[in-house]
Amino acid sequence: MKCLGTISECRTERASLGRVALVATMGALHEGHISLMQIAREHADHGVVSIFVNPTQFGPTEDLSRYPRPIDEDLEICRAAGMAMVFNPSAGEMYPARAPQLLLDMPDLTGALEGRHRPGHFKGVCQVVTKLFNIIRPDAACFGQKDYQQLRVIQAMTEALDFDIRIIPCPTVREPDGLAMSSRNRYLSPEERRRALAINRGLSEAEAQVRQGVRQTNRLTAGIQRELLAEHINMDYVAAVDPLTLRPVELITGPTLLAVAGRVGATRLIDNRVVGP
Ligand code: PAJ
Repeated sequence: MKCLGTISECRTERASLGRVALVATMGALHEGHISLMQIAREHADHGVVSIFVNPTQFGPTEDLSRYPRPIDEDLEICRAAGMAMVFNPSAGEMYPARAPQLLLDMPDLTGALEGRHRPGHFKGVCQVVTKLFNIIRPDAACFGQKDYQQLRVIQAMTEALDFDIRIIPCPTVREPDGLAMSSRNRYLSPEERRRALAINRGLSEAEAQVRQGVRQTNRLTAGIQRELLAEHINMDYVAAVDPLTLRPVELITGPTLLAVAGRVGATRLIDNRVVGP
């Protein structure tokens, strides 16, 4: 496995590979990322991972400086997962000083949910993913449903900009007790870790209610909110939206995304579930 830090080395190495599937990450790799790597290998001759903590997608009060960066462990994980190449650039390599600002956004999709609570976040995501697509030129790219809005924005951006890249949605990987895996889970104290389970529990109960015939989304979101309040989770939002447009849904008539974001202590967690009749 080659680990490369510059765009030119990356381009040279990529030219020697056949069909490539990309897994874009910010490192601190866990089972969720590993499952994306496995799916990547099924969709191409080679899997390629990018590891880059992208500064432009973090807000001024977010956790950029303390985001975990265990690069040696990460490379070992990529090697064990059979990846052909890792692209691990510096911030200066990706964003040369004094380069004019570039803005990419899909405001119809980024005005709600994460985008509303993390202003500018998806501009940074669109910027870095576009650059990674152009540097690595993958045939396919895997994105997790855990970050549902991100997946949807990247699907729409790929279509809008005519990237010839197949975007592959990948299911959310969970801990045995249901907590969605996240690089941020390592910030949680044991007590916070236990309280965080209310998020998946609330979503599962809502899913069960839909199976029992409940169709009004305000009943579902109220139930989730009760679960979160009971564990003193500070909610950013609990929403029911259309999975394609991300616009609010009041009555469930087809697939509907239930999406949650909240802070457990200082750690912000997100999770979601697609439910339907
Ligand atoms: P990161 O949070 O490292 O996630 C990288 C990829 O792994 C994303 O596609 C994300 O949805 C997926 N992922 C994370 N946890 C998952 C889980 N529990 N199950 C399945 N997939 C999971 O998302 C980013 O990085 C960045 O925004 C990035 C796209 C790399 C742009 O900087």
